[in-house]
Amino acid sequence: MAGRAVAPGRYDGCVAPFAIRTYGDPVLRQRALEVEEIDGRLAQLAEQMIDTMYEAPGVGLAAPQVGVRKRLFVYDTGDGAGARVIVNPTIAESDGEWTFEEGCLSVPGLSWPIVRPRDVHLTGWDLDGAEVSLEVSEYDARVFQHEVDHLDGVLLVERLDPDQRKEAMRILRARTLDLRAGDPDGLGALLGEDHAARQATRAGRATGGPPDHAVGGAAGL
Ligand code: NI
Repeated sequence: MAGRAVAPGRYDGCVAPFAIRTYGDPVLRQRALEVEEIDGRLAQLAEQMIDTMYEAPGVGLAAPQVGVRKRLFVYDTGDGAGARVIVNPTIAESDGEWTFEEGCLSVPGLSWPIVRPRDVHLTGWDLDGAEVSLEVSEYDARVFQHEVDHLDGVLLVERLDPDQRKEAMRILRARTLDLRAGDPDGLGALLGEDHAARQATRAGRATGGPPDHAVGGAAGL
């Protein structure tokens, strides 16, 4: 499962990438089930998830985001180690506090400054069935927490403060109505230019800063 970088917009056609499920899809609200067997099928699923993640492009992707209720996620935070897979992850410990402009591939185009623990100790298994134990901080810790949330059926909107959440719900409801009306572009008109400009500014700025390698910035989780 070594990282095989697929340039955005280009795809080598080995395995078809999945469609990424977006806000409103019930699978994103369900708790995923423990993986009971690490086998070839799981490895194939992980490989397709990695292709889907690079294609998005994103830095992390959890199985429910491609409609699979299994507890695994893939990630590549750009440290040169390539894409990795964590099966049945658990956040064993967390500490500190860190604010980061966080987005989600399942809530495309939106991001919010969200406070979460700065340091986490993540345990789980890799595709060889070997135990994984990772102590990470800041950006990597944020990716892990975001992906584990997905496995618990939790979306980042649930991590917002009440004011942020109210605004988020308004935007997402408007977006759903626009999509139903077959007018995905109606969102901008509805929200006005100020909002669109603010979102664009937010997307380009992160508290603590996403590394340059984070293609798509904060939104690629
Ligand atoms: Ni996400």
